[in-house]
Amino acid sequence: MKALILCGGKGTRLRPLTHTMAKQLIPVANKPIIQIVIEQVRDAGISDIGIVISPETGEQVRKAIGNGARWDATINYILQNEPGGLAHAVKSARLFLEDYPFLMFLGDNLIQGGVSQSVKDFNNSSNEAMIHLKEVANPCQFGVAVLGDNKQVVRLIEKPAEPPSNLAMVGIYLFRPAIHSAIDRIKPSWRGELEITDAIQAMIESGNPVEAKILEGWWLDTGKKDDILEANRVVLDEYTRPVCNGQVDQNSRVVGRVAIGSGSKVVNSVIRGPAVIGENVMIEDSFIGPYTALGNKSVLENVSIEHSVVLNNCFLKDVERIEDSLIGNNTRVSRVMDQRKAVRIFLGDDSEVLI
Ligand code: G1P
Repeated sequence: MKALILCGGKGTRLRPLTHTMAKQLIPVANKPIIQIVIEQVRDAGISDIGIVISPETGEQVRKAIGNGARWDATINYILQNEPGGLAHAVKSARLFLEDYPFLMFLGDNLIQGGVSQSVKDFNNSSNEAMIHLKEVANPCQFGVAVLGDNKQVVRLIEKPAEPPSNLAMVGIYLFRPAIHSAIDRIKPSWRGELEITDAIQAMIESGNPVEAKILEGWWLDTGKKDDILEANRVVLDEYTRPVCNGQVDQNSRVVGRVAIGSGSKVVNSVIRGPAVIGENVMIEDSFIGPYTALGNKSVLENVSIEHSVVLNNCFLKDVERIEDSLIGNNTRVSRVMDQRKAVRIFLGDDSEVLI
């Protein structure tokens, strides 16, 4: 079996971060999301991986991920030259996929427990496709499924105005080669894309059985800021192990599951886990609260921060309370100690500040 990880998309809802970085490279718990996806694919025993990239961010993804050797896998990059939809991405990867069955994984989705069981179940079944579903409160933002007996999928609709169920399609699919001719039969949707949802619906209509697996654990679809914070929270909660490769002075307290990277220093501060601190981070006179991930080389002085993600090389000083925040690389946030109480900001395009 092969795996196809989709890493295109403009990530418009994650601007300004996505002005300079692919959304799949945004870290949760200090690890790019796509890296966690690759680990889940490897854990399922698949080593022949294709990553579909876009002209805008493809080079960056290729540089960050490499040829797969560090996961003992082979990674091929496939250029999708226009944002034509998920089924168009499969079409672009037709040569790579040959007639193998494959796992398709959207590079910004994560599920609890990974995909090993699904891959096993699909290998033992004769269905042409398997989809994953999760009960959600807002189904109209997703593909939605209607199930018949034995969890066979009867109908699929992409982002319906009036959802026929609350079962959303997770961005993780298993296919046998019948999907390719189904893609050839569909037309672009109202949003001008070849939808994988429509292709699977076309398979059903031509008599190919499609099976559904309903997820009990968490599913994260990291398209927006709050989704990244939620993913960071969930991943920190599940995977953080206490480890200290840096230095913590005697006036500091590190409580709970906190991972501190090499070269980092904690002085006169409190860190309450789960939290992860990258390498060469300097924390002084500060409080780092639960569900915080600090990237590498940042400096925090007299700051209180929790439930936030800070990327690399940031400088935060004299800020009383930062919460629910996502702070990009090389950002400076500080308080000016004068009487004017003015807020002075220098922000990139599409930034958001809540004061
Ligand atoms: C895509 C799929 C949708 C699915 C979702 C999961 O939506 O088209 O069916 O529910 O991924 O993340 P998009 O992210 O393109 O809006």
